[in-house]
Amino acid sequence: MTNPPDSYLLNWHTVSHEAWDWCLDRALLYGEKRIPVYGTVGIEKQIALVFFNDSLRTRVSMEVAAHQVRAQPLLVTPGNGTWGFVWKEGEPMRGDEAEHIHEAIGVLSRYVDMIGVRLFASGTSLEDDRNETKFKSIIAASDVPVINLESAFWHPCQALADAAVITRALARNTNRRKFVLSWAPHPKPLPMAVSNSAVLQAARLGMDVVIARPEGFDLDDSVVRLAKVEAAESGGSIEITSDQASAFDRADIVYAKAWGGLDRYTASDTEAVRRASHADWCVTNKLMGRTNHARFMHCLPVRRGVVVEDAVLDGPSAMHLQQAAYRLHAQKAILEWFWGGGNYQDEAP
Ligand code: CP
Repeated sequence: MTNPPDSYLLNWHTVSHEAWDWCLDRALLYGEKRIPVYGTVGIEKQIALVFFNDSLRTRVSMEVAAHQVRAQPLLVTPGNGTWGFVWKEGEPMRGDEAEHIHEAIGVLSRYVDMIGVRLFASGTSLEDDRNETKFKSIIAASDVPVINLESAFWHPCQALADAAVITRALARNTNRRKFVLSWAPHPKPLPMAVSNSAVLQAARLGMDVVIARPEGFDLDDSVVRLAKVEAAESGGSIEITSDQASAFDRADIVYAKAWGGLDRYTASDTEAVRRASHADWCVTNKLMGRTNHARFMHCLPVRRGVVVEDAVLDGPSAMHLQQAAYRLHAQKAILEWFWGGGNYQDEAP
């Protein structure tokens, strides 16, 4: 395999299938301890990790991943030890912020070999969030590959880790197995990035994907259309229901995730009232009892007793900590793909 690596990772549908296949295999090799923990592809390389939003897993696992391939991670938290950044185009910069994102990213990309960025949804402009307007400004300003550490609509690092965990849990037999994305209650209107990427990766694995959500909490149409394309290619399927209990019947994987209704962009008060009225969507042991001994997944952080009962998280079906562990394996695979391409092996003979 000699293809050059891709130039950025916004989500898996924006890079080659070859990249997905290679990174998934590689994450599984790390997870199953069939290759050494440490590699060499990052020797004499630096990666800037730019976190516009908080993180525990992504930040720490990315720093460790960089160390384990011998690269140097450099953490940048905009506005906290850097200048404030301006995003607007074509307007004189007379406000408090001293630096435009064009120069900030242009400068960073002249110091480092890759840039990872976390930049959540605005929650104020659906069009900008759907189009990833800010993330695309960063890609355009960078001379080096940009990796998405969770943007407005996508979380590819989480999705790759999740795909590896599911592939392993189902003994590589994912075709036509039932994957339920179960909307969850939450006091805040969380972004949809994890849910969007989770649905696409499950469809890509050929799973029968059921999106269970109350009325008013649909994923964006653009994401459902992409998921249907993935399902058509892989032999899987996509179904949407508001009947949570029936969705759990014979499920193999239950993935709980909270997200805000799309009307938070236009009618946030109504959305908040409607969201608060669905506290009964918490995943319980009783619901899990309807499944085909399903494994429970959550990307974390998770609100115990709100999103899911303690008994599920503390029970034998839970894979949330395994998902967190696979974040490290997945992100090492991504670094290796971008720096080494499909030729990179670096395992003991
Ligand atoms: N799942 C996830 O991305 O966790 P963090 O927000 O802590 O990085």
